[in-house]
Amino acid sequence: KGQTTLRIVVVGAGYVGLVSGACLAALGHEVTVVDRDVARVAALRDGIIPIHEPGLDVLVAAQAAAGRLAFSTELSASVPGAEAVFLCVGTPPRPEDGHADMRHVMEAAAEVGRSLDGFTAIVVKSTVPVGTGEEIEARLQALGRPAAFAVVSNPEFLREGAAIDDFMRPDRIVVGTQDARALALMEAIYRPLTEAGAPLVATSRRGAEMIKYAANCFLALKITYINEIANLCEEVGADVEDVARGIGLDPRIGERFLKAGPGFGGSCFPKDMLALMKTAQDHGVPLRSVETAVAVNDARKGEMVRKIIRAAGGSVAGKTIAILGLTFKAGTDDMRSAASLVILPQLMRHGARLRAHDPAGMAQAAPLLPGVAMAPSAMDALAGADLAVILTEWPDFAALDWRAAAATMAAPVLVDLRNLLDPAHARACGLAYHSIGRPL
Ligand code: UGA
Repeated sequence: KGQTTLRIVVVGAGYVGLVSGACLAALGHEVTVVDRDVARVAALRDGIIPIHEPGLDVLVAAQAAAGRLAFSTELSASVPGAEAVFLCVGTPPRPEDGHADMRHVMEAAAEVGRSLDGFTAIVVKSTVPVGTGEEIEARLQALGRPAAFAVVSNPEFLREGAAIDDFMRPDRIVVGTQDARALALMEAIYRPLTEAGAPLVATSRRGAEMIKYAANCFLALKITYINEIANLCEEVGADVEDVARGIGLDPRIGERFLKAGPGFGGSCFPKDMLALMKTAQDHGVPLRSVETAVAVNDARKGEMVRKIIRAAGGSVAGKTIAILGLTFKAGTDDMRSAASLVILPQLMRHGARLRAHDPAGMAQAAPLLPGVAMAPSAMDALAGADLAVILTEWPDFAALDWRAAAATMAAPVLVDLRNLLDPAHARACGLAYHSIGRPL
């Protein structure tokens, strides 16, 4: 259907860069993913994927075998001949003030700028503060650019664990640019997806930059809201799962992201909320709803600890607690801003001995959680434990033989902070079962 093959460079072989690079190749483009980490690029060339993302290894292998996906450490050598360069480098929060650290973005942009040989779209996929597109453009112009270019904002909305599907079947594609040539190029890049029905939202660059933050902060507000409603449900004797369904069927609210839990974490929501709060404060229009959600979410970890202590009969001192799940959510090995990083040290301070199991995150978690014993299986963690806590919604934990598990525990008490089990089933298995926002 008139599909054009474009030459694309992706800068950064991290989470976003690898997924975007492999998926852009799958759309039929010729993609080079560039990273300055020599070992990482060597591993990728051998088909070793440095991150845990379902399906990514197979996709990378297939696209590399088809000759559409290559890896390189040489950015300046890769840029000439490319029609678009996607910047997918990290923007971690600066420890001093929480502002997004733009160093990697600016360095990559400058190197790209020096290597341009014909009209090129410089596409910012990294999550960057509003106004960054303009700043990159100004800096490149100051370099005395060798060729014409346009800086485009094209935020990503990938969820870890579902990233390939999110890329290939997006709810929307957001493209921020006022440059007609760049817009046409972006439309050509994404044509297979828009032909399959994905809407393309063309807006200003600042509009696109805002959309990314506004979306993540809204989702975090939604989770925070249902978590507070869950607290209230516990007091009034209602079931938060029913409430979530009952409000979520209203399309103005929507059913998704209404799952109560131990509070949101991950590499995006906490960081993006801080960054948008900062921007808002700097402009004199503080985002009080977002500020409140951050505070409520922070306090929630302590509430979860108190809930666990109550379930243990008032004290966890000297008790062995089995912790099921360490990562910030299921389907990933990512520990960034995971609730476990706050909850587990607090439990240990209260004198608990912890034995944890996570299907994917133990290698990442071990150095971050000194004093926590890692168990080779959930059953190993549970055997002889005085209490168990489900912290991450891994399906493996729902599928566990809980009758057998209850029998191996010293006391069959389960605190399910993800409402993963059906309460009636849990009780039938002999567990004293505690969950979030559901009647005891
Ligand atoms: C999030 C967004 O969902 C993506 O759209 C966005 O592209 C990405 O950030 C990003 O900015 O890069 P992600 O951080 O992978 O994706 O994880 P989510 O699935 O959004 O979960 C975030 C946190 O909220 C997790 O701790 C999760 O357990 C929690 N959560 C999520 C809930 O407690 N309840 C819910 O109903 C949903």
